[in-house]
Amino acid sequence: MRIRRAEARDLPSILAVEKACFSRDVAFPADTTSFLLDEATTLVAEDDEVTGFVMGFVNGEWSKVVTLDVLPERRREGLGKKLMEALEEEFVSQGARATLLEVSVENREALALYVKLGYAKAVLVEDYYGTGKDAHLMMKRLEEIGAPMRK
Ligand SMILES: CC(C)(COP(=O)(O)OP(=O)(O)OC[C@H]1O[C@@H](n2cnc3c(N)ncnc32)[C@H](O)[C@@H]1OP(=O)(O)O)[C@@H](O)C(=O)NCCC(=O)NCCS
Repeated sequence: MRIRRAEARDLPSILAVEKACFSRDVAFPADTTSFLLDEATTLVAEDDEVTGFVMGFVNGEWSKVVTLDVLPERRREGLGKKLMEALEEEFVSQGARATLLEVSVENREALALYVKLGYAKAVLVEDYYGTGKDAHLMMKRLEEIGAPMRK
């Protein structure tokens, strides 16, 4: 397995992974994914094929994780953690000192991963994903990659 920067030719593979991870009403539309591939930092995990990807961007000292997807049949192999750590390194190299993400309060897998990586819940955002679908806004300081955020 290797992690590398995504290229334009990866769009079909990335869309296939997105489709495998999220239902149609929740998945990013193809044009949004294509825009993010052009404008955001996108990393893919691949063997013979793309097995997962992560997207995010930096704005000054802040950064944002936009999405993280691992194929269902390739989960619990450490791919999600490796993709996130690689993205955080990219963020730091682009000048970021902290990062943010949103995650559904019902997404136990992702929440467990983010807590393991040192993200802390900052705010509960009501109705973030639609009426009654709340999200945690989570934060991490990148000066101490891997360490829990201090109060
Ligand atoms: C969330 C997601 C990216 C995790 O990817 P993954 O490759 O399976 O995660 P990893 O194997 O790197 O897991 C790292 C750690 O996260 C936690 N974790 C991951 N999946 C978990 C699960 N199903 N149950 C409990 N803890 C879990 C564990 O602490 C795990 O470490 P361990 O395996 O040593 O116990 C994956 O489940 C996914 O693609 N889900 C659908 C898309 C999604 O919800 N993305 C996040 C949007 S915010």
